[in-house]
Amino acid sequence: MRKYIKFCIAFVVLAMIFSCSDKRERQYQYMPGMYVAVPYEADAEKGNTGVSSNLKPVEGTIARGNVPYEYANTNEDYERAKYNLKSPLVQDEFNLENGKKMYTIYCVSCHGKKGDGNGYLSQAEKFLGIPSYKDRDITEGSIYHVIMHGKNLMGSHSSQLTNKERWQIVQYVGKLRKDLLK
Ligand code: HEC
Repeated sequence: MRKYIKFCIAFVVLAMIFSCSDKRERQYQYMPGMYVAVPYEADAEKGNTGVSSNLKPVEGTIARGNVPYEYANTNEDYERAKYNLKSPLVQDEFNLENGKKMYTIYCVSCHGKKGDGNGYLSQAEKFLGIPSYKDRDITEGSIYHVIMHGKNLMGSHSSQLTNKERWQIVQYVGKLRKDLLK
């Protein structure tokens, strides 16, 4: 133990001597990032060629994980989505479970646990005209379209959900509808 302490003291003394040995030379830098910062140029757009930050993304840029939606909020595109748009996800328990989770957060208040349109807001008469899924001729494409754009009184839910989560909800709504039709 003594030896160890002596060694430590010697090390510290030597470190002090060497670090101060030559005032004209740059000494060893502990965490050099603190001394030599990267000069970010906030206004590189104005022609500066430094490392750029704060730039607007180039037109057409797609944020990581986002998938552009090519169907517009029109009746024609509702029909197009209804027949052409297919889920990219596999039908499995994992997707269904997460779909249920998301449905319970975002849809259940109006559409109800079973999808019969009997959610809390419907019971409290805060929202009228919520349909039962079994009374609508819906497909996975049309359900996705309605989540993206909304429909009449129902608003869009696109910004609260990722692409994957939307498709998981679609899967779950499909299951609810099937169960209602039994
Ligand atoms: C604030 C209440 C409310 C919430 C929350 C809500 N909806 Fe709706 N939804 C409605 C109403 C009202 C309609 C009837 C729209 C119409 O056809 O006029 C509807 C209709 C639908 C339809 C049938 C559309 C069609 O093509 O006929 C689907 C599918 C649907 N909603 C899915 C969802 C999903 C999935 C969520 C959650 C992400 C959700 N809704 C959240 C109120 C709501």
